[in-house]
Amino acid sequence: MSYNLLKGKRGIIFGALDENSIAWKTAERVYEEGGSFVLTNAPVAMRMGAINTLAEKTNTQVIPADATSLEDLENLVDKAMEILGGKLDFVLHSIGMSINVRKGRHYTDQNYDWTQKGLDVSALSFHKTMQTLYKKKAMNDWGSIVGLTYMAAQRVFPDYNDMADNKAYLESIARSFGYFFGRESNVRVNTISQSPTPTTAGKGVKGFDGFIEYANKMSPLGNATAAECADYTITLFSDLTKKVTLQNLYHDGGFSNMGVSQLVMDKFVGEE
Ligand SMILES: NC(=O)c1ccc[n+]([C@@H]2O[C@H](COP(=O)([O-])OP(=O)(O)OC[C@H]3O[C@@H](n4cnc5c(N)ncnc54)[C@H](O)[C@@H]3O)[C@@H](O)[C@H]2O)c1
Repeated sequence: MSYNLLKGKRGIIFGALDENSIAWKTAERVYEEGGSFVLTNAPVAMRMGAINTLAEKTNTQVIPADATSLEDLENLVDKAMEILGGKLDFVLHSIGMSINVRKGRHYTDQNYDWTQKGLDVSALSFHKTMQTLYKKKAMNDWGSIVGLTYMAAQRVFPDYNDMADNKAYLESIARSFGYFFGRESNVRVNTISQSPTPTTAGKGVKGFDGFIEYANKMSPLGNATAAECADYTITLFSDLTKKVTLQNLYHDGGFSNMGVSQLVMDKFVGEE
């Protein structure tokens, strides 16, 4: 269903790798809601080519950018405004990567070069993106910027490894930059803390299958899917949420406020 929530709005969507990606689903929903945008991803991720299918489907263009490179980001923002014909109303940062996770290095035995690379890609890139937009005055008044995060920023999930620290940093950047962007041009900045979701990034976390099932059984509404995350994101891009800023918003079927659920208890009762 379309509500035309984003009619006339322009933006940039980072992070659509394949059709499972949260950013992919969001691009499809933004398109349905009448928004126009450019897609971007790291040049290496684009070699897969899937993003071109999405670009065709949503009648848009792809501008490669490594989100850790200021030069790439500057080029991206300039080109986006050129292609879309004006300043931007929304930006989705849907980027995450830990080499320690990818290579199976334990949290207590990190390779710090990898840790720094992961921090740069997963968290600092959010600052770099916003700083580029801010300096170029590229956002329209009452625009909206959203980053994707996970609850391991607040609570311990051992296998999430150094991504937990990256997400804590990301959420802090959202608040700190959100203050300045709000004062400057009423732009709001929020993070969405999403349920575990079967994507390339999600499935890279050790024990993901067990963990996604656990979260599903804990949450009164069950896990939130990538498509549902896209639905939530478009509300944050719309004019219906103008005074929501500096928030970390849980989109997790209720998981974050649960202690224990009957479905999880059922696994343990009778074992004493
Ligand atoms: N999947 C989950 O369980 C889950 C849960 C909560 C939050 N998130 C977050 O959602 C966001 C999107 O991840 P996803 O689950 O859709 O997985 P995904 O693997 O589809 O997306 C991650 C994206 O990050 C991009 N990326 C990596 N390095 C980059 C760089 N240097 N420059 C630009 N882009 C780069 C990848 O190419 C990819 O498109 C991430 O921030 C992730 O941490 C995911």
